[in-house]
Amino acid sequence: MSPTIVLEVETRFEEEERLDEFQKGVKHLCERGITKVPRKYILPALERPILTKKGDATTFKLPVIDFDQLQGPNRVHALKSLSKACEEYGFFQLINHGIACQSIVDMIEAGRKFFELSFEERSKYMSKDLRAPLDCHPLSDVLPYWPSSPTELRQAAVNYSEKTRFLYLMIVEAILESLGLVATTKDSDENDSDDHIKEFRDGSQLLVVNCYPSCPEPDLTLGIPPHSDYGFLTLLLQDEVKGLQIQHETRWVTVEPVPNSFVINVGDHLEIFSNGRYKSVLHRVLVNSLKSRISIASLHSLPFESMIRPSPKLINDANPRRYKDTDFASFIEYIASHEHRSKNFLESRRMS
Ligand code: OGA
Ligand code: NI
Repeated sequence: MSPTIVLEVETRFEEEERLDEFQKGVKHLCERGITKVPRKYILPALERPILTKKGDATTFKLPVIDFDQLQGPNRVHALKSLSKACEEYGFFQLINHGIACQSIVDMIEAGRKFFELSFEERSKYMSKDLRAPLDCHPLSDVLPYWPSSPTELRQAAVNYSEKTRFLYLMIVEAILESLGLVATTKDSDENDSDDHIKEFRDGSQLLVVNCYPSCPEPDLTLGIPPHSDYGFLTLLLQDEVKGLQIQHETRWVTVEPVPNSFVINVGDHLEIFSNGRYKSVLHRVLVNSLKSRISIASLHSLPFESMIRPSPKLINDANPRRYKDTDFASFIEYIASHEHRSKNFLESRRMS
């Protein structure tokens, strides 16, 4: 079986199918020079972000994991930091990741050019079909459905998704080791660890290019409302513009962008797989009035048709099973029938 890779390009807030003037999506409205947020995007007062005069919130440094250290003689120490980050924050910043700067620049630039296309051109790729990813096929089959403009987008996305996929697999290996599911480095038995990682190699990857246009009234709305990610891990690349906030100790904190690094977070499937030890944390995105922002999220999990369950090795009398089995189809069903992607899906999988 070969891996499935889906590419999604999204203008946040979502573009609409009904194409009257106020329904063409925020980027289109911004191009027309609007000065007020359309009413449909205004959040109820309690859900709005609280911004400082400078237009942001407290910035926050995520725990840093050094990929070089993880692959070198300090692995045992780095694994401890990794599990602490996944338990306490659900997020970490990965530095020295080894992906060539050029692949990253090419991907961001191709994404940026896509969002500079005319509305008519971009709207060809709009889809509200939430079930579309379920019909996915190997890359060679889905490639024709990816945007063909700008011409470099497909090549950049193929290259970028291969690189991030490889990095993801290396991190999954570290995560399995940190959970005590494969032998530790010292007495490592390669076959054992290969068996575990095999399930992940054929997994699914969803590459989402997000564009957050600048917004005239950033205190009334959000680029993405609070949600957790469905998969095992998300590898997020943000440009230099702040916006990502995570919930930490009941507060919303803004993640400080660190050049040439990835923000990596635990998704619902890893929380379930680890039987609750690693946390899938709520996050959201602020918009600002000065700059537009681009981010690229690469969401990774097992194959779309796989069942996700707590690892049997992590369940015992002292630590009983805390989640029901789940699969990608039930997640899609859930979000199709609820308004926002949110943590509630994970709640719905908790055993009472
Ligand atoms: C997402 C997401 C954060 C960002 O796409 O799921 O949380 O900063 N993106 O764009
Ligand atoms: Ni997310």
